[in-house]
Amino acid sequence: MKQPKRYTVTAALPYANGPLHVGHLAGAYIAADIYVRYLRLQGKDVIFVCGSDEHGAAITIKAKKENTTPRAIVDKYNAVIRDSFEKFGIAFDIYHRTSEAIHYETSQDFFRILNDKHAFEVKESEQYYDEEANQFLADRYIMGTCPKCSNENAYGDQCEKCGSTLNPTELIHPRSTISGNQPVLRKTKHWFLKLNEYQQEITTWLETKKDIWKSHVYGQCKSWLDAGLQPRAMTRDLDWGIPVPAEIEGAEGKVLYVWLDAPIGYISATKELFKEIEEDKFHFAYPKNISPLIRNKKADDWKAYWQDEETQLIHFIGKDNIVFHCITFPAILKATQQYILPENVPANEFMNLEGDKISTSRNWAVWLHEYLENFPGREDELRYALIANMPENKDSEFTWTDFQTRVNSELGNNLGNFVKRVSDLLHKFYDGVVPQQELDPEVLQMLDTVTAAVQDNIASFKFRDAQFEVMQLSSYGNKYLQDNEPWKLIKTDEESVRKIMYTAYIIVESLAVLMRPLLPKTAAKIEHIFNLVEDGSDEGRMQIGASEILFPKVEDEQIQQQLDKLNKSKMDNAVQQTGVEEHIAAVKPEITFDDFSKLDIRTGKILHAEKVEKADKLLKLLVDVGFEQRTIVSGIAPHFRSEEIIGQQVSVVVNLAPRKLKGIESNGMVLMAEDKDGKLYFVQAQEVSVGNIIR
Ligand code: MF3
Ligand code: ZN
Repeated sequence: MKQPKRYTVTAALPYANGPLHVGHLAGAYIAADIYVRYLRLQGKDVIFVCGSDEHGAAITIKAKKENTTPRAIVDKYNAVIRDSFEKFGIAFDIYHRTSEAIHYETSQDFFRILNDKHAFEVKESEQYYDEEANQFLADRYIMGTCPKCSNENAYGDQCEKCGSTLNPTELIHPRSTISGNQPVLRKTKHWFLKLNEYQQEITTWLETKKDIWKSHVYGQCKSWLDAGLQPRAMTRDLDWGIPVPAEIEGAEGKVLYVWLDAPIGYISATKELFKEIEEDKFHFAYPKNISPLIRNKKADDWKAYWQDEETQLIHFIGKDNIVFHCITFPAILKATQQYILPENVPANEFMNLEGDKISTSRNWAVWLHEYLENFPGREDELRYALIANMPENKDSEFTWTDFQTRVNSELGNNLGNFVKRVSDLLHKFYDGVVPQQELDPEVLQMLDTVTAAVQDNIASFKFRDAQFEVMQLSSYGNKYLQDNEPWKLIKTDEESVRKIMYTAYIIVESLAVLMRPLLPKTAAKIEHIFNLVEDGSDEGRMQIGASEILFPKVEDEQIQQQLDKLNKSKMDNAVQQTGVEEHIAAVKPEITFDDFSKLDIRTGKILHAEKVEKADKLLKLLVDVGFEQRTIVSGIAPHFRSEEIIGQQVSVVVNLAPRKLKGIESNGMVLMAEDKDGKLYFVQAQEVSVGNIIR
């Protein structure tokens, strides 16, 4: 294929109805960000657009739930989402909003064009209506059983379980999500996109993608086409959304269907971007991300990015958005006879969490804003774990222990260790001045091969493999040092050591460059430590800076906190389901008597207590358990002062595996009772000597 002149890369516009979680990042945004960074590094003309999706029932239902207005909801969550993206360094050129005037104009223009081109048929039909709420029920306002897979919680427009697109009238046992009532049918008029008329064109076009697109993406489209495309309503009877242009007859009270306006949001965001560039006033755009190739463009140049055949359009999305991006939106674009169609839609599948589907309503998620608080400055560590587990071709899973292993063993012991060893040795041998040498041609060859592999993988959306290649190079570096032992050789063969250290330095440099699209913050750190100047000049680059631990250990305690948080969600849900009163925790799953008898619990007495440094919650206790004195670290510091608990009778699990907390080995667990307000009490036997068995 001919080299494209430019690229338009989009990432799905998230609904501004809640914060983002790891599933969002792993589904669309990290993939898009890697790809765009890679294109920018290749010197390509590329724009990267995104923004908040602020219409539709997703928003109005949330507003109702929080007892506020849709406007307040979108303002609130747009800010939260934008902030998370910024902190994770997703390098959009612009993050826009579909509530902006420019988007209203663009969407209404589309509607007019589609109307003029006779892409719609206006039909009066019977639609479900909630008589109590006085409202027509479409999309998320109505639920029922999916006719295709029997999922009882399918929405009016889509079944999230099997991915089918639905009409409310297809639902079995429909119910209103506002009142729970069974809806009645009422006549109303809507604009239906005649998708059926595009069946042939879309089929022919998709055929050309058969061997290029991911097979799960193509497969989903194919099964949709095989079922035969049906006209779909592109308007709604709602008071939140973009009005149907007033001059069109019957427009009153009608708004555009959110899935008509949202993808047009990519185009309005592009318009806004070029307008801000021309005016040199940035509000939604990020001037520091915008590549120099684009900085001198004019407002009108947006057109080239959407209408010129030499532009490649790539949509990054999650799998629940496939039909809209591969069938509906392309049909709309085609109907205008002005716009290009996507070159590729490399959708990811879903990422699950600790064995369960991520769910906002069940609070089963790792929220990005919480991660940022709990692991400050460690954005790349999460990014690494998400890339390593990216659901590229099948659903995948995030677990906290996997996260810990990846950070500690892969990033810390492999990559971080190698980089630090090289800088430490360079300091030790040469005061940090890199000895310039000839490079071993074999190493050079190997670096070329790895570089090509990383590039090819990114270009073909195989981000896991790309990252794996980088880590392999880091392993190679570690092994290279281990095999050559420069720390020994320095005594006998200084000349060889110079070569070895220069080679090691070049491997670090290559790692940094290859990592730029994948782990941009880490790449920048390494480039900073090694004084790798980005402008390609050699000036000053041979003196390196102080070494640094790139990836501090993730402690067991931190992981446990995250697991506790999830466990709490599980308990809360169980309580809700069983209807048990709120302050009563759900009963844990049944255990056998054998399980129980494994516990060795004894009476004990606290002999000594002190605060653990740099840990607000922890007390270090010395406990007499009869046969010995034990050090136990306990998270009770917020509840007790150390002086007041000396002499306290306690119950202790004495056969718990030792655990290190803040570097102190804890040998056992002091039992505590917690009341509904979270106050803690010691579990103690009256007047009993220490060392007695509790059973
Ligand atoms: N808001 C939608 C979602 O979260 C995605 C919209 S993508 C766009 O599923 F193309 F419509 F913008
Ligand atoms: Zn279904």
